[in-house]
Amino acid sequence: MRTAICPGSFDPITLGHLDIISRASKMFDKLVVAVLDNSSKQPSFTLDERVALIKKATMGINNIEIMSFSGLLVDFAKSINASIIVKGLRAVSDFEYEFQMALINKELYPDIDTVFLTSDSKYMYLSSSVVKEIAMHKGDIKAFVPNEIYTEVVKRLSGGLK
Ligand code: PNS
Repeated sequence: MRTAICPGSFDPITLGHLDIISRASKMFDKLVVAVLDNSSKQPSFTLDERVALIKKATMGINNIEIMSFSGLLVDFAKSINASIIVKGLRAVSDFEYEFQMALINKELYPDIDTVFLTSDSKYMYLSSSVVKEIAMHKGDIKAFVPNEIYTEVVKRLSGGLK
């Protein structure tokens, strides 16, 4: 049984994340979406909120589990017997950081490999940060977040729909 792990802050999950998660879920027996407990960095959504939003957005995917972790990703991967890390790559600008992380994780845990999926061209510009900025200024984020969580995300970030 091949378990892969798709880690991130998901603050909040976007359609770009969902695209990577749904494509990765078809490649492995099980996909664990691992949400980083980075409360010291003051994310906009609490850990529980981020996990709940991902659960709602991925309801239709069967071989998936949403979990949270703190500490090193490789330690969490070991604890759940995951042998592959899946990351999305949007542009060349993502590459240097992701390449460094992949090499560090391999050094720390040689049994783990990182697989990169190219972002869908529709989502190459998308990030949680831009979604938050648009919503905070009351712009429409409908095209950027999963339908199932749209109203909830708008409520939390902009204090309600226009
Ligand atoms: O969505 P993000 O914020 O780009 O995700 C980053 C994440 C969670 C993949 C990365 O920060 C991470 O793996 N953090 C855990 C700590 C760790 O293992 N760091 C790598 C070795 S320094």
